[in-house]
Amino acid sequence: MSRPADAIEALLNEGRTFPPLADFAAEALVRDREPYERAEADRLGFWEEQARALHWFEPWQEVLDWTNAPFARWFTKGKLNVSYNCIDRHVAAGRGDRVAFHWEGEPGDTRTITYAELLDEVCRTANAIRELGVGRGDRVCIYMPMIPELPVAMLACARIGAAHSVVFGGFSATAISDRTNDAEAKLLITADGGWRRGAPSMLKPIADKALTTCPTVDHALVVRRIGDDAEPVAMADGRDVWWHDIVPGQSTECPPEHMDAEDLLYLLYTSGTTGKPKGIMHTTGGYLTHAAFTHKYVFDIKPAQDVYWCAADIGWVTGHSYIVYGPLANGCTSVMYEGTPDTPRADVRGGGERAGWDKDRLWDIVERYGVTQLYTAPTAIRTFMKWGAEWPAKHDLSSLRLLGSVGEPINPEAWVWYHVHIGGERCPIVDTWWQTETGGIMISPLPGVTTTKPGSASGPLPGISAEIVDEEGNTVGVPGGGYLTLTEPWPGMLRGIWRDEDRFRETYWSRYPGRYFVGDGAKWDADGDIWLLGRVDDVMNISGHRLSTTEIESALVDHPAVAEAAVVGRADERTGQAISAFVILCGGNVPTEELRQEIRNHVGTVISPIAKPADLVLTPELPKTRSGKIMRRLLRDLAEGRDLGDTTTLADREIVESLRAAIDT
Ligand code: WT7
Repeated sequence: MSRPADAIEALLNEGRTFPPLADFAAEALVRDREPYERAEADRLGFWEEQARALHWFEPWQEVLDWTNAPFARWFTKGKLNVSYNCIDRHVAAGRGDRVAFHWEGEPGDTRTITYAELLDEVCRTANAIRELGVGRGDRVCIYMPMIPELPVAMLACARIGAAHSVVFGGFSATAISDRTNDAEAKLLITADGGWRRGAPSMLKPIADKALTTCPTVDHALVVRRIGDDAEPVAMADGRDVWWHDIVPGQSTECPPEHMDAEDLLYLLYTSGTTGKPKGIMHTTGGYLTHAAFTHKYVFDIKPAQDVYWCAADIGWVTGHSYIVYGPLANGCTSVMYEGTPDTPRADVRGGGERAGWDKDRLWDIVERYGVTQLYTAPTAIRTFMKWGAEWPAKHDLSSLRLLGSVGEPINPEAWVWYHVHIGGERCPIVDTWWQTETGGIMISPLPGVTTTKPGSASGPLPGISAEIVDEEGNTVGVPGGGYLTLTEPWPGMLRGIWRDEDRFRETYWSRYPGRYFVGDGAKWDADGDIWLLGRVDDVMNISGHRLSTTEIESALVDHPAVAEAAVVGRADERTGQAISAFVILCGGNVPTEELRQEIRNHVGTVISPIAKPADLVLTPELPKTRSGKIMRRLLRDLAEGRDLGDTTTLADREIVESLRAAIDT
């Protein structure tokens, strides 16, 4: 299946389009444009039809109440339970023996969890967290590795009507306590640690540090994942409870709460343009409708035969919608993997480049489980490209029938490499554009219908309305470029920012009245296909992770030696964007390499290792306008090694030369 590099080059240069593959299209759930036409003719009727695919305890009255815009209410007065929809109804339909998750730990240990087993475990966990004082309307913070107890914990919250706030396992103590305090969570669910890169990566000590400043948290529920393979973790008397001490003995009976369609399902914090993350609110009925519908049709899911794998982390929205809620609502079998793509199973570690380190774990998993759909991020694909096509070539990947991409624009080279070396030129690629705020996929091909182009996310899904506008808000024709906006409410849309109505209106609804402002640049090509061009605000996208420049600047100035800092995202071949930081030291500090590294690491401690600047330049001055505004554009040009364009507003030109010299060293 490997193909010479010049053949790939030729594919790219043809500017080729990829019509639906005949074999795929013949069997696809959607084979023509009929759903687009149906949604166009009756958008709300179309969504209502999708909502009917779920189980409702009580029907809704109105599909959409938009009278209090921008606060949407979907499926008003309808009653349902997300955990019932994701588990019970499949068991009730006689599909309890179907596998929900083929889970694989990084060391190579495995667990197979059927829908019937998932139901029992979720009920026990729901009863356990009730015993710990959690009830309907409360919030629970979850800080866990990628182990089965993570989706179980989320579903247990949903079952009893508590909202979860999952904090990515790579985040630091400050990030946990900020989010926990903002949400006023009562309970923290965590684990001693998880396995990463062949070693235990401990979470409980970080959680402990966070909990010293979280007055609302009464208990921590702790899964033992690492056990004797690391120093035992501390358990605070009266506060901390082991999962294995409280969950297994619980009853497997736990009637699901009848939740209102608009009850809060979860909060997920994401970076905005300020230093304070936003608690994005997702509710019950509309969100699940959107997640289930998009999962089924974008990935062409045939639940009885597919083995679907979203290789994201549940700590991000991709994992919420496309590892947990969408796939389970559709009764689908998924793979879930704990670790990193270059860590082989402990028993098969051979002689890779670092002794024993191979780079084919993902392909090993695809082959062993017979994965049919794989959903991952461009930054991962570029990493696989760099590692070389020989790694996937070692494995039989013929079970794959569809590939997905998410998180950032996919460059055509990576698209074609994915198509050739992973998809064997047999698999359609769905480049899916969406955001934490949208709850689910918005712009994407439908694999049996759409003619795709490497690098373009194609167009809005049925039921979704998008337009590109210019600076003044005038719609831009085809072809043309500007800012992406969403013009009609959609069921998975965020219902607000937790306890910050003003910020919700201001961030998304004020720039172009009546439209949702996305924050991404976009263009229509001559055929009317959309190309996403990246963020237009101070939000960066590092390996598909969203971080704000201000958030990192605050972490930098939090270091005692730092007086002032400016951060920009510069283009990076592998991670999409990389963080470039420019730092002025406080008087009396000598700019040493050691201090530079210490400041970088400080950002890792305050936010997360993923937020550590790739470059950090110590400088005596920052380029500012005469009114004192830092000139980020100029810093970005410097970081990317470009000519500096117009610098007439710069107050002191010599700074640029000294910065250039600092970057070069
Ligand atoms: C931002 C949202 C969607 C889940 C993961 C990220 C960028 C996302 C694409 C894509 C071009 C994309 C946008 C968006 N983005 N998918 N297919 N093509 N850009 O969620 O952290 O909320 O980030 O990611 O810039 O605004 P997020």
